[in-house]
Amino acid sequence: MLELRHVSKTYPNGVEALKDVCLDVPRGMFGLLGPNGAGKSTLMRTVATLQDPDSGEIRLDGLDVVANKDELRRQLGYLPQEFGVYPRTSPLVMLDHLAVLKGIGNRKSRAELVERLLVQTNLWDLRKKNIDTFSGGMRQRFGIAQALIGNPKLIIVDEPTAGLDPAERRRFHNLLTRIGEEVVVILSTHIVEDVSDLCTRMAIMGNGRILVEGEPHALIAKLEGRLWKRLVPPTAVAELRRALPIVSTRMSAGRTEIRVVSEQRPEAMDPADPNLEDVYFATLEQHGIEAVLE
Ligand SMILES: Nc1ncnc2c1ncn2[C@@H]1O[C@H](COP(=O)(O)OP(=O)(O)O)[C@@H](O)[C@H]1O
Ligand SMILES: [Mg+2]
Repeated sequence: MLELRHVSKTYPNGVEALKDVCLDVPRGMFGLLGPNGAGKSTLMRTVATLQDPDSGEIRLDGLDVVANKDELRRQLGYLPQEFGVYPRTSPLVMLDHLAVLKGIGNRKSRAELVERLLVQTNLWDLRKKNIDTFSGGMRQRFGIAQALIGNPKLIIVDEPTAGLDPAERRRFHNLLTRIGEEVVVILSTHIVEDVSDLCTRMAIMGNGRILVEGEPHALIAKLEGRLWKRLVPPTAVAELRRALPIVSTRMSAGRTEIRVVSEQRPEAMDPADPNLEDVYFATLEQHGIEAVLE
């Protein structure tokens, strides 16, 4: 279990990237969903001990993370949002090298580990190819392979599916699902489907704060009976926005479906089945945060 208590961080330029973040992350897949600039990467880097918070406490199974960086790093697998320059070498060579750095000195156990990781991430056939020639999906699978070296107890993956095509994204989802339930996996993303497909628990982040936290289905259930929809001509949307708290709009066969959260049924609107996207937009709207869709 990872516990964050009152974690705050202000950058030297005055940006308050984390504001009193409190969060409990149990074993299993945890989704941290939020628009660009929400503070997700700052939170991930802080938990990964790459930067210190200004205040607050972070504990992994009781271990004080900020005071025991080396110990935390031994238990951590981290796939950063920016991977930097890709090595002009193969996954086979690179994983072996990284395993040495992680302290796996025995040649035979290292060879077994590297083989297992290559098979697990579906990179066996590509093991001798240069990584800098890989597609986005292949790179992310290599990123996961390196994060899994040394049986980490905590795995952090920061926006791993951004830029992947739908087939690559599905493959990556399957890989993350197989990583299993014994470890804490935190997945940060601005893509709602990543969370709805993969995560048993989640939080929505915006402007440096945790806005809402819970199980996806429970958050969706809270909108039951309070979500309304209506198909309107696209030209009518601007006018309706002035009258109704519209949480989302989407095109449907040349018309626009507007969705509104309201305790009472607004005039001329029908009940709608809520989904996680509605939860996301309604939460951001409630806090006055603009959501940018892909
Ligand atoms: N090193 C930095 N120095 C100054 N401001 C930063 C730095 N890193 C991030 N920020 C700012 O902090 C806020 C949160 O950024 P970030 O943690 O990257 O959010 P996210 O990953 O959710 O997009 C943004 O306003 C961003 O511009
Ligand atoms: Mg980020």
